[in-house]
Amino acid sequence: MTASPVLGRDDGPVRILTVDRPDKLNALNRQTLEALDAAFAAAATDDGVRAVVLTGSGAKAFVAGADIAEMNALTAIQAREFSALGQRLMRRIERMPKPVIAMVNGYALGGGLELAMACHLRVAADTARLGQPEVNLGLIPGFGGTQRLLRLAGRAAALELCLLGTPVDAARALQLGLVNRVVPAAELEAETLALATQLAAAAPLALRGILDAVLLGGECGLEEALQFETAQFALLFASEDMREGTAAFLGKRKPQFRNR
Ligand code: COA
Repeated sequence: MTASPVLGRDDGPVRILTVDRPDKLNALNRQTLEALDAAFAAAATDDGVRAVVLTGSGAKAFVAGADIAEMNALTAIQAREFSALGQRLMRRIERMPKPVIAMVNGYALGGGLELAMACHLRVAADTARLGQPEVNLGLIPGFGGTQRLLRLAGRAAALELCLLGTPVDAARALQLGLVNRVVPAAELEAETLALATQLAAAAPLALRGILDAVLLGGECGLEEALQFETAQFALLFASEDMREGTAAFLGKRKPQFRNR
């Protein structure tokens, strides 16, 4: 049996998932996409996990893209399945009921940038490079990249990155809104874990309400989205955590959220 290409470990309530194919710069072959899908499915239903950090093995790459060697041999029918598998994974990550942070430790190219964009937040090392270089292979992004890049950074940036295929450095990625924070490479893990730990201590039902309202609301018209926000807001008044959060504020103490 070959070792899993995805490693998982817990730091308290934070699950850290690492794509582990450093000799191939963590490129996403089918086995890796399937292992990631299983790892995220498990993290979604594990009540002990309150936040997820996703990263790549080694100092060089987060994920350098879909596996080009594997793609080179695909028929069009197999390519449709490959794209569907990747898109399913990205959607699973985006619709996770708890926050997911991409810790971008190096190259995030092609499927790697698509993976990072499916996460809810992105923290990048100052050494990272991000891009959609598929055009250089005679291809286009196929794991949702054309759409998530458009929605995240706008049409100008989406067209620039996809048409030219030239990666941008971390500072430019921050300017474009592609990443939330850029930190020195040596501080990447500590900074990302601090963020994840902060999220893990927050009220889980409120976090889930925010993820639902922002993600699903962003995919429909304003009138429906506002209605949906109201429904999510009102639902939280049925939670113990909302009573605890408001009572703790009034009692000038720290809240203890219990995911109820
Ligand atoms: N798929 C499959 N293998 C990949 C890969 C990918 N997307 N990206 C890197 N690798 C492999 C290389 O083939 C090489 O394997 P080898 O040692 O067996 O020859 C190994 O990872 C190291 O990569 P290498 O290209 O030698 O490193 P580098 O430092 O010279 O260049 C990159 C780094 C990221 C610039 C370069 O690897 C690259 O351009 N990768 C492809 C990026 C891409 O087009 N991604 C989109 C795919 S849809």
